[in-house]
This record gives sequence, C-alpha cells and structure tokens, in this order.
Amino acid sequence: MFQDKKVVFSGVQPSGSLTLGNYLGAIKNFSAFSDEYRCYYCVVDMHAITVRQNPAELRRRTYDTLALYMACGLDPERNVLFVQSHVPAHAELAWILDCYTMFGELSRMTQFKDKSAKNADNINAGLFTYPSLMAADILLYQTELVPVGVDQKQHLELSRDIANRFNGVYGDVFVVPEPYIPTTSAKIMSLAEPSKKMSKSDPNENAVIRILDDRDTIVRKFKRAVTDSGCEVRRGEGKEGIENLMSIYGAVTGKSFDEIEREFDGRGYGDFKLAVGEAVADSLEGVRREFARLSADKKYLEEIMAKGASEAARAAARTLGKVKKKVGFTDIRY
Ligand code: TYM
Repeated sequence: MFQDKKVVFSGVQPSGSLTLGNYLGAIKNFSAFSDEYRCYYCVVDMHAITVRQNPAELRRRTYDTLALYMACGLDPERNVLFVQSHVPAHAELAWILDCYTMFGELSRMTQFKDKSAKNADNINAGLFTYPSLMAADILLYQTELVPVGVDQKQHLELSRDIANRFNGVYGDVFVVPEPYIPTTSAKIMSLAEPSKKMSKSDPNENAVIRILDDRDTIVRKFKRAVTDSGCEVRRGEGKEGIENLMSIYGAVTGKSFDEIEREFDGRGYGDFKLAVGEAVADSLEGVRREFARLSADKKYLEEIMAKGASEAARAAARTLGKVKKKVGFTDIRY
C-alpha cells in the first residue's frame, strides 16, 4: 500500500513527561507528513536507558508516549507507531554502524558533553554511542526526512556522515536523510532561564510546560515566566524571555512576530503572558482529553504496539539483510 512513498522517521524518548518543546518542535508537526510519506514514529526506549530510569516508570511512560502520539493526531492506520526495543534490528544495525563511526566524531557531540556533565557518575558507553543507535533508527527505514527540533541537528549530520561513509565503501545501501526543522518553534526555551532549552528533565517545574499540565498550571507557569525589566512586547537584545514567549504564541496561533508586536502594542507583559498561557492551554486541551481516553485502554495500546512492531520489523529486515550481506556476514537458515 505504501510501496512508492518516501519515508519519514522520528523518535521521542520516554524519559520524562513530554514538554511543550517536544510538542511544538516535533510531535505537532508529525501528522502533516502522513498523506505524502510512509511515516514511522518510534518511542525510543533503548535511548532512554542511557540515563538511569526507574523500570516501572519507563514502562508506563512508554505506553504514555504512544498514547500521546495518537492524542496529538497520529492515526495508527496511517502511520507506523512502534516501540524501538520491540524491533531488534535497531540494536543489530547500531552495532554494525558503531564500527563505521569514529571515536572523534562521537566525542564532538554536544549532547554527549551536556549529558556527561549532568550525569558525571554514569558516563556509560551507551551515552557515548547514542548517535549511532539514532543513525540505525533512521537508516533502517531508508528515511528521506527526519522532523526534529534543532537540538538534534548535529546527530542528524552525523547520521548523514555515517550513511555516506557506508555507501562510499559498499555502494548505495542507505538513503541519506535530511532533517526537517520547523522555522519558529525549533528551540523552545526554559521559562525560568530563557538561555537554556526547555527540557523534560529540568528539576525546576516552573521552567517547563508539560503537554499534560492542566489549564491552571499552564496559565500560572506562564505568568511566572522570566522576562526582562522592560515592558514592550518585541524582540531585541536582552529580551530572550519575551522572544521565547512570542515564538510559543506564534506557534500555537499561527501569528507572525509582526502581528504579535502589533496585537500587544502598549499592553505590557502581564497581558501578554496571560494571553500566551491561555492560547497554549486552549491548544493542548484536546490533546489532554484524548490522552486521558487512550491511556486508559492498555489493551488497545498493546494492539497498536504489536501492529507497529510487525510492520516496522518487516521494513527493517530488508535493510538489515542487505547490510549484513555487504559487510560479509554469512547467512544460514535454522
Ligand atoms: P527527545 O526525546 O529529547 O525529544 C523529542 C523531540 O523533541 C524535540 N525537542 C524540542 N524541540 C524544540 N524545543 C525544545 N525545547 C525541544 N526539546 C526537545 C527534539 O529535537 C526531538 O525532535 N535523540 C532524540 C530521539 C531520537 C530520534 C531518533 C529522533 C532517537 N532516535 C531518530 C529522530 C530520529 C531525542 O533525544 O529526542
């Protein structure tokens, strides 16, 4: 049915309660590709264990992330929704790609440096080789386009380098993927420290809007958002906090920066923050309602996982078979 379509792949780690950054930078944009592309959206639980996880919580968040995909508009009939650890080809290809990825390349990854600094007592090998597992995710499906936030751009570039290197040795085995990065919401910043990315794992709850926060919580967090000592709603030097709120407001209302400046001309930060909070709460209300319905039905989620895993495994086996042959592995039936 999907034979001639080009492929989109993306993934989200079930490593915490998902944020407005995950939503605006990635998940909200996923459903737009379903008509034109064969889409694979994965819950990357294998990536999540590069940082210590509580097992029961990881299991619950894996179900929740799948439910959230659907609550954000991804129809399991039109997208392959699946869990990474259900398709062993990801781990197998990752090992092979590890042997075509250089120590120096992995050492330069800024996410590795950031996460090593945050988890100084657990700088494990998986954290280091995280990007080659990510390359395996993408390359297994002959992916053309990878919708992600800007923080994943460096990993995408490495995936391209690995694909080109492998193709250079063995001929055209992999499609070389392109990132798809949204223009205004590619990097949503922390509400408490607007120079830092909004992150699932931020210990300061006021810094982060969760997709599943209730309306009052969302409005309250925006009211407390750190801005500057000025009062004009416009972009400029030292106004990162306001610019972040403008990006968020623009992403949920579809308004441009100019339109937003005009709308709040002479109205001050209080009015603006309230409007942003209400607009975000409005846009997430349907997601929250759908999530409540879907997440209560574990059996249904398991059916979707099983269907997704079998579809993904079939596509992955084609690429993995080719790769194994190219590198010289023997093939026997048993
Ligand atoms: P993760 O789980 O950290 O984030 C999921 C997606 O959300 C985007 N994102 C943001 N976008 C804008 N502003 C923010 N503050 C923000 N925070 C997160 C991320 O860019 C990402 O698109 N390594 C990936 C998961 C992954 C993957 C893949 C992605 C594994 N394999 C293959 C694409 C293709 C990650 O950690 O995402």
